[in-house]
Amino acid sequence: MFKKKYAFANWKMSKLETDVTHFLSKFELLMRNDSSSHHIVLCPSHVHLGCVSPLAAQNQFKLGAQDCAFAEKGAYTGDVSAAMIREIGAEYVLIGHSERRHHHHETNHQINKKLQEAIKVNLCPVLCVGETAEDKKSNREMEVIHHQLSVLEGLNPDAIMIAYEPVWAIGTGLVPRVDEVDLMHTKIASIVKSYHIKPKAILYGGSVTSDNVSEFLALESVGGVLVGGASLDPDHFFKIVQAL
Ligand code: PGA
Repeated sequence: MFKKKYAFANWKMSKLETDVTHFLSKFELLMRNDSSSHHIVLCPSHVHLGCVSPLAAQNQFKLGAQDCAFAEKGAYTGDVSAAMIREIGAEYVLIGHSERRHHHHETNHQINKKLQEAIKVNLCPVLCVGETAEDKKSNREMEVIHHQLSVLEGLNPDAIMIAYEPVWAIGTGLVPRVDEVDLMHTKIASIVKSYHIKPKAILYGGSVTSDNVSEFLALESVGGVLVGGASLDPDHFFKIVQAL
C-alpha cells in the first residue's frame, strides 16, 4: 500500500535550544555521509521551528509542528496558528496527539477545526488516533478509532497522513504485535477511504526504536513511523532513518 516510508521525530517538550542545535549538528554529519534519500520530518516545539527551519532545506529533512490552533487568527492567547507555522517553513503538523487529547482535553470538534486550518494553508496534517489500555481491555478499540476518524467528515485535503498510536504503547516500551498493527492499519485505511480521502501515509507510533522499527516498516500497510523518545538522540534516530 505505502512504498514511500517516512520517519517523523516528535520531540514533544524535551529539548532546549542548545539541545536542538546539538542534535542538528550531529544529525547533519550523519546525513552527509549517507547518500540515500530519506523522507524525514522533524517536529520541534513551536519556539524552535524558526531555528530548525533554515537547516531543513539544506539537510534533506522537512519541518513539522506538534500542534496548531483551531482558529485562524485573533484573540487566542498562547496559541499558534496554522498560517504562522506554514510561514515559518513547516510543511506538516501533528493534530490530535493523545497527549493533547489527554492534557488539553481536545475534542473531536476542535480537532476537526484544526485539520481545516492546516488544510487551508497547505500544511499536511498528521491526524493521530489510538486506543487507551482501557479501550483495548474492553475490546472497544475499533469503536474508538472510528470515532476519532469521524473528524475527517467533510474534509477535502490535498495531503493528509494518519498516525496510529496506541496510547498504551506511547513512552512505555510496550508495542502491539506486528499482525495487530497490520490489521489496525488495514482497517484505518478502509475507514479513511470511506471518507473519500487517500492518505499519503498511515504511520505507526508508540515505543518505536531502532530494534523494532524494521518489523513495522516491513508491513505494506505501514507508511512510516512517528517516533518520540528514540528520536531525541541523533545516533538512535539516524539508525531508524536508515531502516526506511
Ligand atoms: P514514543 O512516543 O516513541 O516515545 O512512544 C511516540 C509519540 O508519542 O509520538
